[in-house]
Amino acid sequence: MHRYCSEVLGATGEFDVLPTIGSKEIVALLPFLLQAKRVLIPEIAYPTYRVGGILAGAEVVEVDIDASTWPVDRVDLAWINSPSNPTGRVHNDAELMAAIEWSRKSGSVLASDECYLSFPDTKQGRSVLSLASGDNKGILSIHSLSKRSNLAGYRGSFIAGDAKLIKQLLEIRKHMGMMVPLPVQLATAAALKDEIHVQQQAERYKKRRAVLRQTLEGLGFKVEFSEAGLYLWCSRGEEDWQTVAWFADRGVLVTPGSFYGNKGARHVRIALTATDEKINEAAKRLSA
Ligand SMILES: Cc1ncc(COP(=O)(O)O)c(C=O)c1O
Repeated sequence: MHRYCSEVLGATGEFDVLPTIGSKEIVALLPFLLQAKRVLIPEIAYPTYRVGGILAGAEVVEVDIDASTWPVDRVDLAWINSPSNPTGRVHNDAELMAAIEWSRKSGSVLASDECYLSFPDTKQGRSVLSLASGDNKGILSIHSLSKRSNLAGYRGSFIAGDAKLIKQLLEIRKHMGMMVPLPVQLATAAALKDEIHVQQQAERYKKRRAVLRQTLEGLGFKVEFSEAGLYLWCSRGEEDWQTVAWFADRGVLVTPGSFYGNKGARHVRIALTATDEKINEAAKRLSA
């Protein structure tokens, strides 16, 4: 995992790695492990960031992408997620740097959920660890084999970054159990050694996205972001549930954007996880 962090993610300087049972589990637990009182989450986001904050009894504050606008007082933790679930938006280097600078200025933890990093489409994202110039204080990067290697059932994930912070997290977590079983650690290490299966999977997602994007744009949908990761984020300018119903009438299941925050209430998220055959069939049905 250390090798993966330096060679693939571009981490430099002192850092450590902590294997975790699943990344959803660590997303839900991190505010609690940090005893966070105030947590910043993206305004359109994977719902577990909010739920983790609530479980820890913390105040959860929605923030814009631009980290230079984030509050710096009394904040313990901020989440970023690039490529994003649900929007497929990829942070550029300046946006990642602003988040790192926010962490340094506020003295708070920046948790970067990078579980979709291996699936670029029109834009290649980067790990925060590659931009920290070897000063990883306060920075954590979260990775999951569920996405990268399609191993969701294994719950093979890890967090990497600030060595001191990782040591503290391990110190607390060990009293909760939740150590990753050795066979899963070995399977994780084996999967991380291979990039070929990841590139093949990335190509599959790209092709599926192209098929659906073309179909949707032909039908008057506006596809936004969707630059990487597993999802298409689109709108036809109406309330999300109306769009969900339109898809359902054609036998296609999509997720209402409001699941990810009020700002998503006029969008739907379309997953690219069905087989090529099913995606092609869905495209035909939608156009019919
Ligand atoms: C942004 C994000 N983070 C974390 C996860 C959790 O993945 P897992 O628990 O399978 O590692 C997901 C799953 O959909 C996700 O979309």
